Amino acid sequence: MNLFPRLTAGLRRKKPTATDLLQPGDPALPQHVAIIMDGNGRWAQSKGLPRTAGHQAGLKRVSQITEECAHLGIKYLTLYAFSTENWQRPAEEVNFLMDLFYQTLKNETDLLCTKGVKIKFIGLPNRLDPKLLALMEECAAKTKDNDRITLNLAINYGGRLEIIKAVRELLQEAAERTLRPEEVTPELFAGYLFTAGQPDPDLIIRTSGEQRISNFLLWQSAYAELFFTKTLWPDFDRLEFHQVLLEYKRRSRRFGGLEEGGGT
Ligand code: FPP
Repeated sequence: MNLFPRLTAGLRRKKPTATDLLQPGDPALPQHVAIIMDGNGRWAQSKGLPRTAGHQAGLKRVSQITEECAHLGIKYLTLYAFSTENWQRPAEEVNFLMDLFYQTLKNETDLLCTKGVKIKFIGLPNRLDPKLLALMEECAAKTKDNDRITLNLAINYGGRLEIIKAVRELLQEAAERTLRPEEVTPELFAGYLFTAGQPDPDLIIRTSGEQRISNFLLWQSAYAELFFTKTLWPDFDRLEFHQVLLEYKRRSRRFGGLEEGGGT
């Protein structure tokens, strides 16, 4: 007979892990998470597989982390899927990635739609195959009214070219109407970026041990908390994501002021 059922029940209870500690809707969670999904190639090579197998494995994490963000109430997730510099890779790898984007969008959009995901593409249309571009447009249009989470997929994205695009559009507008220099504010400028209308990322994660921003969200990352992990993207699981979010919650964000939420 167990004389101390409550005590022993307490002893048997397992130690809470990071996944038990975060509650959906916690106001201290970031509103916008952005991820540089790095290390797919090394993951595959370490297993004696072709680099493309790493991208395939990385895609599984894309859906898992997207689901997790939606579950936790994180409203924006931006994923760096293909940079303007990635065209320098061997044609075989570039073609594989383009095909992976195409097939994924074709097969998964309806499911993402039922889960309340709004898909937005950030990046430049040039160099992308017209068939892929048409599918991207279709996918964005189909999901545009969803409001559970916005998934920004950065395809053919580069931060410098995004800023140049914004400057060109501003100059064009200035040529068409009177736009006084003092009217150009950070808020006005942000309206010309791909992420117009969205909050800046609160947290940027880069996997695989590299510690640089690699032309990702250069303007928007001004006050983002940066988090680097040695884990390769295909191994970045829900538990580690929760650990990063717990670390984010512990950081004090001062925005250049003296206390949280202070001025610039
Ligand atoms: C970087 O790892 C990863 C990429 C350039 C591609 C990331 C793309 C995916 C995970 C697929 C996403 C798909 C959709 C539909 C959004 P790397 O190849 O540079 O790795 P390495 O540094 O180890 O070589």
